[in-house]
Amino acid sequence: MKKTDNIYLVGFMGVGKSTISKQLQPLLGWKEVDTDKYIVGKKRMSIPDIFEAYGEAYFRTLETNILKDLAKEEGQIISCGGGMALKEENRKIMKASGTVFLLSASPQTIYEHVKNGKERPLLNGHMDVKYIAELMEKRRPCYEKAGDIEIVTDSLTPEEVAEKITEHMKEQRGEL
Ligand code: S3P
Repeated sequence: MKKTDNIYLVGFMGVGKSTISKQLQPLLGWKEVDTDKYIVGKKRMSIPDIFEAYGEAYFRTLETNILKDLAKEEGQIISCGGGMALKEENRKIMKASGTVFLLSASPQTIYEHVKNGKERPLLNGHMDVKYIAELMEKRRPCYEKAGDIEIVTDSLTPEEVAEKITEHMKEQRGEL
């Protein structure tokens, strides 16, 4: 597929953005970028350490700066940290430079994906379905504003989600 766009994958922590990006890569031949990994690589610090040392606001600024850089390029599958869609500035940058896919899943599904992880500072100490459901509800309006297309992933395999994204991209380009 011609590299004249970007794909942004947004949605709650643990919804499977990185896994789906890996499935998409061979289907499109585009470059994969993960904003969390990009930040960790640049700062040479883990995300919990960045939150602890500099605070969440600093991390959010790093995210916006990275997004501005990425938005100058094309042909990228960009998996965004779960907070990327919360800022209006970020939503504008994403919409102007790509197609934004909102991946969603139930709090129970998310819990199953994140329960054994320690790398998400916002969930450490709150690892339960109720907390996830509340945070998801709070974020929902921002996620909905960010997404051009929403895909509910609960009953789909990562391969199926990647196929749906590819179909949308082809349809949008009149290639179907
Ligand atoms: C966050 C999501 C995380 C990471 C950071 C904050 C969030 O990324 O950016 O811990 O606020 O939702 P994942 O969505 O990849 O877990």
